[in-house]
Amino acid sequence: MEQELINLQAQAKDQLAAVENGGQLENFRIRFLGRKGQFSTIMKGLGKVSKEDKPRLGQMANSIKKEIEALYDEKQQTLSTSIGASSADEGTIDLTLPGRKPQTGKLHPVTQIMNEVCSIFESLGFSVAEGPDVEHDHYNFEALNIPAHHPARDMHDTFYVSDSILLRTHTSPMQARIMETQQPPLRVIAPGKVYRCDSDITHTPMFHQVEGFLVDRDVSFADLKGVLTIFTQKMFDKELELRFRPSFFPFTEPSAEVDIACVMCGGSGCRVCKRTGWLEILGAGMIDPEVFKMVGYNPEVYSGFAFGLGIERIAMLKYGIDDIRLYYENDLRFLSQF
Ligand code: PHE
Repeated sequence: MEQELINLQAQAKDQLAAVENGGQLENFRIRFLGRKGQFSTIMKGLGKVSKEDKPRLGQMANSIKKEIEALYDEKQQTLSTSIGASSADEGTIDLTLPGRKPQTGKLHPVTQIMNEVCSIFESLGFSVAEGPDVEHDHYNFEALNIPAHHPARDMHDTFYVSDSILLRTHTSPMQARIMETQQPPLRVIAPGKVYRCDSDITHTPMFHQVEGFLVDRDVSFADLKGVLTIFTQKMFDKELELRFRPSFFPFTEPSAEVDIACVMCGGSGCRVCKRTGWLEILGAGMIDPEVFKMVGYNPEVYSGFAFGLGIERIAMLKYGIDDIRLYYENDLRFLSQF
């Protein structure tokens, strides 16, 4: 038995020395150290040796087994640190290869700007309301003081679903929808998709607007200016001059188109602002008394302002994008820049 143990010790050491990978090491473990391995077999034989020899042989077997186990552990350590080097062996994984980064999704740039616009107005006390994309002619036009055959309808290039149902051409219908059901004071923004039958480098058939309006007693044009000034400063992270140009919308009086000093050149004139120094960012005005009358507000008591801004346009100005269609081509090289 003693000789058997000595042979086994030598054999185990030899074989362990020859082990080169995890698979071979596992085979070694099973063969020598496993429950049905050679050491177990010898240990079972201990029952048959004489009483005098038993303690000595038992001790010897134990210490050899411990020795081999220690060598086994050591081998396992060296294999796992050099596993990269022996990756060619039997499909082991090369842990030294750089990992592949999983592609993570992100919010679309338009969604990001939309969220930013909303949170700026929320910080000014506006609440957010959403309405339907498929809209009644009534809310999109009639309630906004644009009766049938009014020439202003021509500006809208409307997609009709039926005679009286259409895809909303702006977010202004939300003015009528909210005022119809709620009483002043109101401070609301309404973000959403709008549709116009138009497509070129600055127009897509679907785009995003944020409508904003405020109704209370004694609201003046100065309030509109103040709110828009704070908004543009926060949006573009700098103090930008604003310019109000007289304009016309049937649902506001007076109406204005609002420009900001060009974010690229600061007003000196460049390609982006077409040498004018100004960039148009939104339409706005004081809510027309006719609109108030249609929702049952007394225009002698209440006044208010409204504005509508195009999200794609703001994002284009903020990021210097010159073709609006890029937003909707779903090219990851473009989208992942934001
Ligand atoms: N609805 C107008 C448009 O889409 C913008 C606007 C909103 C103008 C509110 C004035 C007041 O062009």
